[in-house]
Amino acid sequence: MNLTPAQRYYLQTIGIDIFVSRDSNAESLVVPEEQVLVSSAPYTGGNEEIWNDLRKQVAVCTRCELHKGRTQTVFGVGDTNADWMIIGEAPGAEEDRQGEPFVGRAGKLLNSMLHAIGLKREQVFIANILKCRPPNNRDPRPEEVACCESYLRQQIALVNPKIVLALGRIAAQNLLKVDTPIGQMRGRRYEYPGPRVPVVVTYHPAYLLRSPREKRKSWQDLQLAMRIYRESK
Ligand code: URA
Repeated sequence: MNLTPAQRYYLQTIGIDIFVSRDSNAESLVVPEEQVLVSSAPYTGGNEEIWNDLRKQVAVCTRCELHKGRTQTVFGVGDTNADWMIIGEAPGAEEDRQGEPFVGRAGKLLNSMLHAIGLKREQVFIANILKCRPPNNRDPRPEEVACCESYLRQQIALVNPKIVLALGRIAAQNLLKVDTPIGQMRGRRYEYPGPRVPVVVTYHPAYLLRSPREKRKSWQDLQLAMRIYRESK
């Protein structure tokens, strides 16, 4: 099995060693006796190549049915070395058109929310649970989330943020593998499994546009996230 740089990096990040057979150059994740451990050291090559590789994989992805209706994939945007990672649900119509997450009305509100805690959009990395738009903005289906999951996991491993802000129920429940209602998830610190990044959950900006009274709670969530972030430094 020949692994791409992104796959190799990801496997090493989650603690899986890669072995190379004495008789061939083929990489293997199995550990038979006659094989030699080549390296368990973290991948230290340039991340640019890994990002490009991942971008290309996502751009041509056909793992689920959603590829049939998309204009383009929406990979994610921002600083690939950001301390903050913002994770939403899935692209909407405008995002599908422009190929960038959170560019519609909800995106404008997200920019203001970030501004309120002293962050510019360019300083964070923004991604979604799904990279393709579900038709009529319906909720993502479990099989679609499962198909897309490894892309987001690799993005989180590569950015290696100090904190993740999950926007809305779909992002929060799928990231943390729970079915707790969002109202109960707010106001506390979660941990993303694997790299153990702290996660704070808040309402989705699209929900806040419909229910502006809840903005006060989302402000509390952002302050909590900032406190956790500062403690992590
Ligand atoms: N809503 C999301 O969850 N993500 C986007 O990118 C846009 C709207």
